[in-house]
Amino acid sequence: MSLSRRGLLAGALGAAGALGLAGCGLRVDPGMTGQPVSSLLPLPKRFTVPLPVPQVLRPVRRDSTTDYYEIEQRAARVELLPGVRTEVLGYQGTFPGPTLVTRSGRRAVVRHRNALSGSTVVHLHGGHTPAASDGYPTDEVRPGGSRAYEYPMRQRAAMLWYHDHTMGATSSQIYRGLFGLHIVTDDEDDALPLPRGDRDVPLVITDRAFAEDGAFRYPSLPGHHGHGVAGSHVEGVLGDVILVNGAPWPVLEVEAARYRLRVLNACGARRLELALDPPGQLTQIGSDGGLLAAPVRHDQVLMAPAERFDLVVDFSAYPVGSRVTLRNRRGSGGTDAVMRFVVARKARDHSRVPARLSAIEPLDTTAARVRHWRFTRGAVDGQPGWVVNGEPFLADRMHATVPLGEVEIWRFHSDLHHPVHVHLDPFQVTGRGGHEPGPYDAGWKDTVDLRPAEHVDVAIRFTDYAGRYLVHCHNLEHEDAMMMAAFRTR
Ligand code: C2O
Ligand code: CU
Ligand code: CU
Repeated sequence: MSLSRRGLLAGALGAAGALGLAGCGLRVDPGMTGQPVSSLLPLPKRFTVPLPVPQVLRPVRRDSTTDYYEIEQRAARVELLPGVRTEVLGYQGTFPGPTLVTRSGRRAVVRHRNALSGSTVVHLHGGHTPAASDGYPTDEVRPGGSRAYEYPMRQRAAMLWYHDHTMGATSSQIYRGLFGLHIVTDDEDDALPLPRGDRDVPLVITDRAFAEDGAFRYPSLPGHHGHGVAGSHVEGVLGDVILVNGAPWPVLEVEAARYRLRVLNACGARRLELALDPPGQLTQIGSDGGLLAAPVRHDQVLMAPAERFDLVVDFSAYPVGSRVTLRNRRGSGGTDAVMRFVVARKARDHSRVPARLSAIEPLDTTAARVRHWRFTRGAVDGQPGWVVNGEPFLADRMHATVPLGEVEIWRFHSDLHHPVHVHLDPFQVTGRGGHEPGPYDAGWKDTVDLRPAEHVDVAIRFTDYAGRYLVHCHNLEHEDAMMMAAFRTR
């Protein structure tokens, strides 16, 4: 979309909003940085492909303390768009990779074998992981090599995800498929009367663009040959096809009952504003770091890249036969919708959403020191890029030494939209722009959506594991353009 058309659309929508029509129209997202990339082949009709659910990976071995997994990173040609083959780089050759389901308190060891032609790094996003297995961007596994990542899993139930974190190649390698879910379960979550089984569905949302021959269309990197798209991609890449669990705008047949939808925004740069159409309630029960203290009811949910929202939707609120579209109110054209649910039949439902879900200890910040992290544009080797506290990422440059066990306040400052993520431990948002936290900030978070020219305060405490870790922007193109900073825990 050209700038002028964008401006026009914004004007028209502003008028619609004034007339009270905003609920059924689209809204552009002016502060979101990103370059739209269009597909060059005919796109499938929306809401025709059934929603796939990624396979759960079985351990190859178990002993009294540990489950052992093996994953091969390999190229594969898979059918994402009906009748079209796309080469992906996938964990086990799939897009997304297989889902790991592990148990809180039980160790998991995942051996990754790199059968690709370039180096890789694996990071478990949301994992409470010793530094040696956290996937520092320079801890590369070479082609033909392998590495066993060890996860103590001393953390509560939550939906984590694992993905590539290779220095300078994270965005393009995740784009091509190197990401998957990792769900941690525990007794507390199991004991709640929430929807289970077929009514507990992960939704991994990505946006992609495709070339004429079905290949992913991604702006080529300097010195790389590929399906080049002119222009700079350091703003972020926005695709025109929404894939859920790897399928374009899929459809899921549901019963008239409650469903638990565990949503991950795995887009590189796209913020999503999810809402049901016809309107319906999205009851949030969990965030990045697991269950909330109490449910939060939303009419729409705004998700920055890498955020997770654990939502319950009661489809019995709709008559049987209803077609319920999950809209993206920040999208335009094809990206204004994510998927569709078809309410197929009446059913029994013994699930409910209890008024109390979990106990969350608020971190005590009375004696906390305040650390500032500024996320802005900046020069990287004389080229336009992104920096933290004025400096591009350097693997050996430590921005802070943080004592284990102490609560600190981290104040994130932004120039534009930056989804800020911290490795090792989750945090609690305590303020936004000098005010109360926003409607999407509840619970334990590991990624927070910074809006333009705003500061967000979070209370954070690293409980254990001394070593070097990252705080960075999760707009993947910003991240690769060096918007990362390292700190050391001690
Ligand atoms: Cu999901 Cu360091 O990232
Ligand atoms: Cu992470
Ligand atoms: Cu950013």
